[in-house]
Amino acid sequence: MQNVLVTGGAGFIGSHLVDALVEREYKVFIIDDLSTGKEENVNSRAFLYKLSVQDDGVGGIFKKVKFSHVFHLAAQADVRKSCGDPSYDAKSNIMGALNILSLCRSYGVKKFIFSSSGGVIYGDVKKPAREEEPPSPVSPYGISKLAGELYVKFFRAYFPYTILRYSNVYGERQDPFGEAGVVSIFGNNMLDGKPCTLYGYGKPVRDYVYVEDVVRANMLSLQRGDNETMNIGTGKPTSVQQLYSMLKEIVGDNIPPVHKPLRDGEINSNYLCPDKAKDVLGWQPSVPMKGGLSRVVKWLKTV
Ligand SMILES: NC(=O)c1ccc[n+]([C@@H]2O[C@H](COP(=O)([O-])OP(=O)(O)OC[C@H]3O[C@@H](n4cnc5c(N)ncnc54)[C@H](O)[C@@H]3O)[C@@H](O)[C@H]2O)c1
Repeated sequence: MQNVLVTGGAGFIGSHLVDALVEREYKVFIIDDLSTGKEENVNSRAFLYKLSVQDDGVGGIFKKVKFSHVFHLAAQADVRKSCGDPSYDAKSNIMGALNILSLCRSYGVKKFIFSSSGGVIYGDVKKPAREEEPPSPVSPYGISKLAGELYVKFFRAYFPYTILRYSNVYGERQDPFGEAGVVSIFGNNMLDGKPCTLYGYGKPVRDYVYVEDVVRANMLSLQRGDNETMNIGTGKPTSVQQLYSMLKEIVGDNIPPVHKPLRDGEINSNYLCPDKAKDVLGWQPSVPMKGGLSRVVKWLKTV
């Protein structure tokens, strides 16, 4: 049985990835400081180390457990927080990634799979962003994710990598009480009878990809996509207003929304071309948005 490390495995996407790996009989270890992740998300067959990826103690874990593959998801993942405290963001996302990468080199890991963000690296786009597009991050979070990618590429001399640039991921376990994750926030507000705030007056467009599809891209990267950077999105732009209307129909909400301008660090239009992931990984999004949103609403009713 192979030992696999998932950093950030108590978080939204990481915990779903852990479930899929456990299901496939990998022995899964998690490093997570629980800054936004939750112990209750963690699969009972995985082992959780509660510490930060920047912590010196991480070296002891690598010494004790020989990992074949490392999925690096631990990150400060909130654009707004990164604008307020860019140093915290850089420590977590740049120094944290660098610490894990250096340990992967020291302990001979076979492959490193990095969760990056097409949502913030490309900035504003007018057509589906392709991987060769020049990066144009406008938030400290986007800058730290891009720096993380560059460090990952530096280490390619020691082990292969796959970089997955997600669009806006949504699904069960996404924090409905946080600042990010508009699907969970809108869904939760509607179920609580509270008004939703549509920033950018509902006009900004995003590319919403369901978490199960994102997990599948990670699983495919265990065998394929060495030294490649790929978008993981649907290629379809959806406005905040359209998303709001779809959720409204599913929930049956009738509270009028509040319209406000965009906030610091936010962009107007971002969606990703997924063609390369299809060619390289054989990956395509499989969950239609209405189906994914219905699943999230069903889950929100239980929390
Ligand atoms: N959710 C999205 O739409 C999206 C889009 C693009 C990229 N991503 C990337 O995917 C990854 C997972 O994001 P998520 O949406 O599941 O967020 P999340 O906040 O739910 O998960 C991040 C996890 O990392 C942990 N963590 C944060 N900083 C840490 C540190 N310094 N040391 C150890 N653990 C730490 C948190 O406690 C949490 O469990 C992140 O790298 C994020 O940048 C997410």
